[in-house]
This record gives sequence, structure tokens and C-alpha cells, in this order.
Amino acid sequence: MMESLKDKILIERLPEHIAVIMDGNGRWAKQQGKMRIFGHQHGVDAVRNTTEACAELGVKYLTLYAFSTENWNRSSLEVDALMSLLTTALKNELKTLNDNNIRLNAIGDLKRLPKSQYDALMYAIDNTKNNTRMTLTLCLSYSSRWELTKMVKDIATEVKQGKIAPEQVDEALINNHLATAGMPDPDLLIRTSGEERISNYLLWQIAYSELYFTKKYWPDFSKEDLYEAIVDYQSRERRFGKTSEQIKK
Ligand code: IPE
Ligand code: IPE
Ligand code: MG
Repeated sequence: MMESLKDKILIERLPEHIAVIMDGNGRWAKQQGKMRIFGHQHGVDAVRNTTEACAELGVKYLTLYAFSTENWNRSSLEVDALMSLLTTALKNELKTLNDNNIRLNAIGDLKRLPKSQYDALMYAIDNTKNNTRMTLTLCLSYSSRWELTKMVKDIATEVKQGKIAPEQVDEALINNHLATAGMPDPDLLIRTSGEERISNYLLWQIAYSELYFTKKYWPDFSKEDLYEAIVDYQSRERRFGKTSEQIKK
């Protein structure tokens, strides 16, 4: 059998939460003289492979940036195509999610989604809600500034209503008012396509995440690429502000 980087992964030091900025679908398609949507279609295969690989390894949370609030500004041709791809993928993958005991979750300004996409999403979320192996979160119509603005607004409202005092606002309370409430912060953030930026993704949550950038375009991102990212992650020392000596004690 071909050697796999999977064998180099230390299961006891697996990232509990992996977040991914799935980028490069358009360039992947353009490279082959195809329409951007062709890239998005193939991006779905990479989603399936990555989800499967994470679940097999025992990763508990996988969070995928699928569509940003800024992506609404793309051409209606592309937005419509992405939306119909979403419903198709939800329909086609629901059984696989259940067979693999994976719970689907979605965060973002979901009310902006067209009704049929919103309904398909809610159906899939409800249908997988008792699954326990891994939580797959799709970030749709998501941006970190949208999320942080909403958090401030919600906390301000509760203060005004007298439900909480300003003195009670702390990191835990903020965490509980984010779309990711209840989830651990990402240990590892992967971005494909060679861009090295965050693009309005999980700004609060990635305070201490390890960042991993690869030049691979998202449709080409394979299970081996995921293993490579995890092996790289495991070679790092996460210090959280302490010194190396303190960590090793
Ligand atoms: C990522 O690929 C998918 C979405 C943002 C929806 P892109 O569509 O951004 O592809 P590039 O970056 O233009 O190559
Ligand atoms: C980030 O990719 C958003 C998603 C992957 C969904 P973009 O392609 O939209 O980011 P920028 O515009 O290159 O920063
Ligand atoms: Mg892009």
C-alpha cells in the first residue's frame, strides 16, 4: 500500500476543531478554461473528502467557510449557481452524514439565504441533530464582523432589559453570544489557494489558532493534504503566551 501521512499523525494530539477557508475554486476552473461554477462543483468533492477524513481521524469539529457576506457582491450568475449547488449537495449528502453519525450545523446571516436553500438547510440540520461523532459547521452568509456586531447588539439589549449588568460582560459571556457558542476555538485554521489572509473569518475565535496556508486550490485539496496540514500542526509548540520551558514542565 502507498505510504500515507496519516500514519505520521499522533492521535492523542489531534486538533479537536479544524476550520477551513475553502478558496481557489474560480482559479482552479479558469486554469482549465472553464467557468467559475465548474470549480465550485468540484469543490463539493473536496468538502466530502475533508469531512470524511476528519471524521475517520476523530476530529470533533470541522468548520467550513462556504460563503461570506461579501460573496453576495459577486455576479448573480455565480451567486445563483452557488445557491443551487448548496441545495443539491445538502440533498445528496444527507444520507452520508447520517450514515457517518455527523451532525450538520450552520452559522451566518442565514435569513439572507433564499427560502428553498434556508429550508433545505434547516431540514438537514434537524435531520442530523442527534448525531454525535463530529459536528460539521457550514459558514454561510457568514462574516466575523457580522457576528461580532450581532453579539454586541444582543448583549447591549440584554443590559438594557436589565438581564445582565455591564460588569458581567466577560470573555465567557461574549463566547456565549457568538454564533459558535458551545464550540471550542479552532486549533488549526487551514486556507487553500495561496492567499494568506483571514477574509473576515472567525476573528475572535482564532486568537490562538495555528494557521496553515497551502497553495493548493480547494478542488484539489485531498485527504493527504489534510494529513499534511495536521502533521505540520503537530510539529508546532502552542505556547499561549507562556515560555517554552513552562510548557514542557
Ligand atoms: C472559494 O473559491 C469559494 C467561495 C468563495 C464561494 P473562489 O470562488 O473564491 O475562487 P477564487 O479565489 O476566485 O479562485
Ligand atoms: C473567502 O474567500 C470566503 C470563502 C472561502 C467562502 P474569498 O475568495 O471570498 O476571499 P477574498 O475576497 O479573496 O479575500
Ligand atoms: Mg477566492
